[in-house]
Amino acid sequence: SGVEVDEEANQSEQSDSLVIGFSQVGAESEWRTANTQSIQDAIADAGHELQFSDAQQQQQNQIMAIRSFISQGVDAIVFSPVVETGFETVLQEAKDAEIPVFLVDRAVDIDDDSMWVTFLGSDFVEEGRKAGRWLVDELADVEGDINIVELQGTVGSAPAIDRKEGFEEIIADHPQLTITQSQTGNFTRTEGKEVMEAFLRSDGDNIDVLYAHNDDMAIGAIQAIEEYGLKPAEDIIVIGVDAVKGAFEAMVAGKMNVTIECNPQFGPQLVELIEAHFAGEELPKRIAVEEDMFTMDQAADLIDSRTY
Ligand code: AHR
Repeated sequence: SGVEVDEEANQSEQSDSLVIGFSQVGAESEWRTANTQSIQDAIADAGHELQFSDAQQQQQNQIMAIRSFISQGVDAIVFSPVVETGFETVLQEAKDAEIPVFLVDRAVDIDDDSMWVTFLGSDFVEEGRKAGRWLVDELADVEGDINIVELQGTVGSAPAIDRKEGFEEIIADHPQLTITQSQTGNFTRTEGKEVMEAFLRSDGDNIDVLYAHNDDMAIGAIQAIEEYGLKPAEDIIVIGVDAVKGAFEAMVAGKMNVTIECNPQFGPQLVELIEAHFAGEELPKRIAVEEDMFTMDQAADLIDSRTY
């Protein structure tokens, strides 16, 4: 009967269905929310089962989540490490349990790449370079010293380390550009605002540029700049990273100059990679996500087409 056919179809689907444990960084930014959504949707659409764990930006929570995935015997672990160091032991435990690990978004600082199948994520150093190159171009005709304040991402995280490195690499060739203050805002709006308030209190009249390692901190800082009585994007150039909707809104409102894209919507690509691995394919150890950059004058035309 029709019922039996359905059951058979269901059974064969189930035998291909994987249990995937995903240890996510947290919910600190618009980017992160979009990333979680993309991965959850793609896993559900493919008929796999997801065990989701939000680490609330705490390394300890990630170590506990991965241990719990191992003891449950999940088929695969997807892992976005909050910081680069300190995960050797738990990754070795996953390897010993023969559970394949897929690193996404953020890298770990471990030489032994046999601990993961592949790393799918953005080139954060290049994002920092893009921010630096945009600024150098923007200021090509400006004479005199330029003071830059930097809102760093989470201390010890790959995007904070790499975005700083890429940006500094570019401005190093331009001695008139100096980073005068630099502190972490932990990738959140609240801390971005608080730290920008402190920057303004200590040297408010001498800040020319804000380089924020993500848009959420830039958006928090924009509020601080306005409350201080200055005009964001006019009195202080504002540079962000991610290209989230909130950044487009700020650019359309004339309050932010540029955002460097960091694409969080790699859920479908991730699921393809996991399935390819289980089909016996050999995957490259590093797969980069392709990205762009958007300025204030493009924002109004593009805002409706943005999907995160
Ligand atoms: O790891 C990616 C970064 O983490 C995003 O740029 C930031 O918004 C997020 O919190």
